[in-house]
Amino acid sequence: MEQLSVKPAEGKLGILVVGNGAVATTFMTGVLMARRGLAKPIGSMTQYDKVRVGRGADKRYLHYGDIVSLANLNDIVFGCWDVYPQNAYQSAVYAEVLKREDIEPVRDELEKIVPMPAAFDKNYAKRLDGDNVKPCTNRWQMVEMLRDDIRRFRKEQDCNRVVVLWAASTEIYVPVNKDIHYRLQDLEQAMKADDREHIAPSMCYAYAALIEGCPFVMGAPNTTVDIPAMWELAEKTKMPIAGKDFKTGQTLVKSGFAPIIGTRCLGLEGWFSTNILGNRDGLVLDVPENFRTKEVSKLSTLETILKADEQPDLYSDYYHKVRINYYPPRNDNKESWDNIDIRGWMGYPMQIKINFLCRDSILAAPVCLDLCLLIDLAARAGRYGTQRFLSFFLKSPMHDYTRGEEAVNHLYQQHTLLKNAIREMGGYEADEEID
Ligand SMILES: NC(=O)c1ccc[n+]([C@@H]2O[C@H](COP(=O)([O-])OP(=O)(O)OC[C@H]3O[C@@H](n4cnc5c(N)ncnc54)[C@H](O)[C@@H]3O)[C@@H](O)[C@H]2O)c1
Repeated sequence: MEQLSVKPAEGKLGILVVGNGAVATTFMTGVLMARRGLAKPIGSMTQYDKVRVGRGADKRYLHYGDIVSLANLNDIVFGCWDVYPQNAYQSAVYAEVLKREDIEPVRDELEKIVPMPAAFDKNYAKRLDGDNVKPCTNRWQMVEMLRDDIRRFRKEQDCNRVVVLWAASTEIYVPVNKDIHYRLQDLEQAMKADDREHIAPSMCYAYAALIEGCPFVMGAPNTTVDIPAMWELAEKTKMPIAGKDFKTGQTLVKSGFAPIIGTRCLGLEGWFSTNILGNRDGLVLDVPENFRTKEVSKLSTLETILKADEQPDLYSDYYHKVRINYYPPRNDNKESWDNIDIRGWMGYPMQIKINFLCRDSILAAPVCLDLCLLIDLAARAGRYGTQRFLSFFLKSPMHDYTRGEEAVNHLYQQHTLLKNAIREMGGYEADEEID
């Protein structure tokens, strides 16, 4: 089947990761190990999932890479920025996610990934005190310096294309402000005026990426590209964007489990979700202003799956609470508990308990890979602006809230969106309904 106007994935794909912490180094190490045949990229949809194409006698199930041209793992080149100067090998060892035996075989390659100085403002993540930081006097200069970094990386590494992925700490909550975040000219004006309250460093990364012709993915819950001014920039530069917040553990379970309650027409009284987490991410999220950003993102999942207006008997007034507690002994091995109070026949109460003992970065790494490969595909297919087909990978998927558009949080609907986009970019018909 002919692929419709999708440029082939030729040459090297640069992946510039903002942050060189637990998630970033687990992602990089896994890719480097996998391409040497020393580890398997388990959990990655682009490497394992199959999509049905054709119908009836023509029906076939194919890997994404057999339907569309995807970058090969061997063609990926990594670069990064971080507040701390340690290279990716040192940082992977420090993170204690992977065993030394799973890092050492690619030590040489990891040591070459040395973080460029970060565009950083301590007010946005007070618990971090590294000194590998750009000497910027204002936000516009931050943008200019990041643009230089991207251009240099692209040239030095001889990249055909570059994707920028935010896997850095969660910033403090920046509420959307209509006067600053709605129009591109206002956003640029605020950057030039060094408005530090409304312009997070992450916005400078995103702005620099898009202007330099790089798709941008927001893996933290930051509002960065989830604002109309950035949608305008993505349209103007014809670049795809995706966000926000990798969907990995508890929210993955929630978006897959809530449909059971909704499909079976059971009632919901309340859903209490709590976590213990001991890595640097947990440390940053221990600050209330940073946790607020995560809380907003995690809370948005249920309301579009179990809708009060469609089923007032079942879903009006349920209580939804999410907590994250910093608990150092567990490091990256997060444990989450969900208590779900449901109602059945004649209103009788029942409870469901879910206890997920997960590994945060082990779950996030394949999501990083998939988002990078698929947003690169989107760019080659000429798709720009918010990429809703990537909602599957994100806790709080972007949608045009200015027009009352709803996010798609239902895991199986998100999977349908993803499969249909792969079909369409591969020249097949999108043939499943998402409702
Ligand atoms: N692991 C998961 O399951 C998961 C899921 C969803 C989202 N996330 C998000 O992914 C991000 C990374 O998580 P992690 O566990 O790797 O955290 P981490 O603390 O190990 O790594 C983050 C790194 O980002 C760096 N950093 C902070 N601000 C920066 C800036 N402005 N520029 C460059 N570097 C900067 C920090 O110095 C740190 O090394 C967090 O925001 C987290 O909330 C993780």
